[in-house]
Amino acid sequence: MEQAIREFELKFDRPPEHAAKAPGRINLIGDHIDYNDGIVLPMAIDRQIVSVAASNAKNEFQVYLPDQDEFFSTSRLQPKQTDPDWAKYILGVLDQIERAGHEVPPFQSVIVTNLPIGAGLSSSAALEISTATLVEQISGFSLPAMEKARLCQRAEHEAAGVPCGLMDQISVTLCQEDAVLELDCQTDTIRHLPFSPDGLGLLITNSMVRHSLADGTYATRRKECEQCASLIGINSWRDINPEQFQSVAGNLPTNLAKRGRHIVTEIWRTGQASCAIKSERWERLGKLMAESHASLRDQFEVSCPELDLLVDFTCELPGVLGSRMTGAGFGGCTISLIELSERPFLERAITRKFHAATGMNPEIFLSAPSRGALGIPL
Ligand code: GLA
Repeated sequence: MEQAIREFELKFDRPPEHAAKAPGRINLIGDHIDYNDGIVLPMAIDRQIVSVAASNAKNEFQVYLPDQDEFFSTSRLQPKQTDPDWAKYILGVLDQIERAGHEVPPFQSVIVTNLPIGAGLSSSAALEISTATLVEQISGFSLPAMEKARLCQRAEHEAAGVPCGLMDQISVTLCQEDAVLELDCQTDTIRHLPFSPDGLGLLITNSMVRHSLADGTYATRRKECEQCASLIGINSWRDINPEQFQSVAGNLPTNLAKRGRHIVTEIWRTGQASCAIKSERWERLGKLMAESHASLRDQFEVSCPELDLLVDFTCELPGVLGSRMTGAGFGGCTISLIELSERPFLERAITRKFHAATGMNPEIFLSAPSRGALGIPL
């Protein structure tokens, strides 16, 4: 926050008046089932995007990213194909807010972050939600949380061309400290499950393989799930369990059978994980995480060699209860449930093994479940 304020003063020669911050998220388990009526278990992490701003007397939106030294200025709200990608997310949100009937006053802003970008930690949802939260601060209205999340999801669909589910926008908005969010995507209802296991923590390892959802693979998977549901004649993936699915899978094209198998088993695993968290059975949770990774790798086919490598050797190390890729996949991060007493050893071992195999240094950090987005008057 201090950095953002200093940078704003330097860039615009006056102090900012408003601030907003929004965290990244990891998903403990339940990937690619938010857009399939599943239940997901995300939590916000303590890495954020921070935006500060002041109203602009001129009819212009000006945004400066000091870390990249990039500046964008426009008087329109609709994103254009030629805009920088990050600006499309911001304009997309402003455009959606206006289309929802709210006035969006022009502003100048500075954005800083300690959240790895494009690493599967929902940097795009954090940027969207921090933008919406900033506009709430500047304009004085407040959007109901679900409406805000949906509006940012629409911005991502339209401005970035990614047909994402709602998990990221909701978790970035509504997560609480020391709790995992249980989001039922069939009913859009949430529960906060207390999560502060004694002596254990979640280690986040960035494979440094940049993931991009806009290349169409995410959209292809989403379409395959719809085709599979229509071939087996279900209205919702909650209407079929893994045994029932297995009895019809033989009649499906191989790729659709694999996608469906991931969906039904991941929905089942997430239900089991939720019970494991409530009854504090952490070994069980770790085992479910490992099974989830295998399913994302073999059935949904959204992992990549670097993520598989990380998960495989991390699971073999002492003090690790389970490990898996998190989020959409195609690169990005793994999360591992670890014994905190082994943390220094694990960080060294993972770094050494990953470097030996790939020549890259992974970024590794720990995060407790953190709170969702926040608007801050300055
Ligand atoms: C991305 C999407 C989410 C969700 C995950 C996979 O993060 O934005 O809606 O589908 O992938 O679980």
